[in-house]
Amino acid sequence: MALNHLTAQEAASLIQNNDRVALGGFGPPGSPKAIVPAIAEKALAEHKAGHEFKIHLNPGSSVGDSCDGTLTRADAVISRTPFCVNKDMRQAYNQRKLKYFDLNLSDNATFMRQQLTGYPTWGIVEAAFIEKAGNAYHLYPTAGIGIAPTICRLAQKGIFIELNTWHEEAVKGVHDVYEIPDSWAREIINIQQPLDRIGKPYIEISPEHIIGVIDCNLPDESRVMSAPTEIQNTIGAQVAEFIVWNIRKGILNPQHLIFQSGVGSGANAVMAAMGKDKNIPDFSIYTEVFQDGPFSLLQEGRVKGVSTGALTLSPENLRLLYKDIHLYRDKVVVRPSEISNCPEIISRLGVCAMNTAIEVDIYGHVNSTKICGTNMMNGVGGSLDYTTSATLAIFTCGSTAKDGKISSIVPFCSHIDHTEHHVDAVVTEYGVADLRGKCPTERAELLINIAHPDYRPILREYQRLSMQQGGQTPHMLTAAFALHDTYLRKGDMRLVDWNEYIIK
Ligand code: COA
Repeated sequence: MALNHLTAQEAASLIQNNDRVALGGFGPPGSPKAIVPAIAEKALAEHKAGHEFKIHLNPGSSVGDSCDGTLTRADAVISRTPFCVNKDMRQAYNQRKLKYFDLNLSDNATFMRQQLTGYPTWGIVEAAFIEKAGNAYHLYPTAGIGIAPTICRLAQKGIFIELNTWHEEAVKGVHDVYEIPDSWAREIINIQQPLDRIGKPYIEISPEHIIGVIDCNLPDESRVMSAPTEIQNTIGAQVAEFIVWNIRKGILNPQHLIFQSGVGSGANAVMAAMGKDKNIPDFSIYTEVFQDGPFSLLQEGRVKGVSTGALTLSPENLRLLYKDIHLYRDKVVVRPSEISNCPEIISRLGVCAMNTAIEVDIYGHVNSTKICGTNMMNGVGGSLDYTTSATLAIFTCGSTAKDGKISSIVPFCSHIDHTEHHVDAVVTEYGVADLRGKCPTERAELLINIAHPDYRPILREYQRLSMQQGGQTPHMLTAAFALHDTYLRKGDMRLVDWNEYIIK
């Protein structure tokens, strides 16, 4: 059966109001980029004609502006899950114009299988190459997989394949496709080392399931990373030093170092510092995003191998990887998100996780998602998948935000994604707070010591007030959110007046 070739507009014309559209890929890498803008155009035309037209959107993780931005601006989204970094969509969900459901990335495929987020009506997946194999087709993904294998099985009306010739057939063989069975039918997921392969290099689809192939040539919409700031470099160096301390103490095995690091320029700075520190032996990476920073370390030989959810590289570095694929084919493996972020594997491999916090409270709880407890930033992403299972879970953040008007260390987090039970250490530019084995008041001491000097006296005063209340984890509940409240009312946490919060 020959495959039908369609234009993006022809594909979009099939999608109806209230349909659920699921996208392959993970972050911008591997996300389809041709049909979604055509869906947004269709939405605008339908709205102009006075018709309702909105879809439910379920990608693998964040996607580029051609998807989240274009659809939001066309007012074409009813609901969206999971992680999202688009500013227009962020504004829309914070104004409750669309329903945003934040989800651990490891659960994205499971929730779809369990119909908690619903079976997709349509699936759109990107391929570098499609091959006929007996009665089936083999689809070779591009720079990310996400939940594409699950989408390809469950999409109710069928699959559109964007055959993107920007990517090269060289990518064939880099992927390891494996879908986790239902919990009652599950076997051990046999990944003993980051580069172990357990699946197939392709996704198998039956031809009746393929609605059409859309030919395109579009680069990934990778985010341009700014150069790390001085503060980020200082934090990176402190993390590296802390890793060395853990190695010397025998807590980490120098022959078996496996790191995960999050997304952004801060994560690049941490990885660069680890690469530079010669007291850290060559290491492996088990992560969800493989950025330019770790790629340089792979080129230098400092990184032995990388298991990732996506090749989150700049277009130039992705081209370089494709060109020299013979050097990297056995050093890089791209996995579906439920494997790259699988807590069981992360725990067994002994991964050290390094993620970024929005705020941390004096007892070691971490908020990664909500500004002042209410406005959703991006979502929890994979941070919880890694933090809950890591052998060492580190959070980094600059000591302040918004030109010093906000302290990242606060009395009580306005929202908690990671509890004191999972957060091992916090690093700011002022040092490392190693929270392991410490009681709450000891943790408070350590965390206040790495707060910005402007905020240390403020946090000490809160500590003094809360100690008067007693308790193993002392809090004065009327004052616990005083810094947030002061920021919202006066625009600067430093203007806090404790008298306003003390019940006389
Ligand atoms: N209060 C208010 N705003 C804050 C803040 C705080 N305590 N801390 C940071 N911000 C703001 C910054 O000012 C910045 O705002 P801007 O976009 O208007 O400039 C924004 O949040 C991003 O902060 P930044 O310091 O640039 O860090 P980042 O880009 O590394 O993002 C997170 C930090 C926490 C938002 C981001 O890492 C995230 O979404 N994490 C959750 C998912 C995750 O950890 N995934 C890990 C695996 S990839």
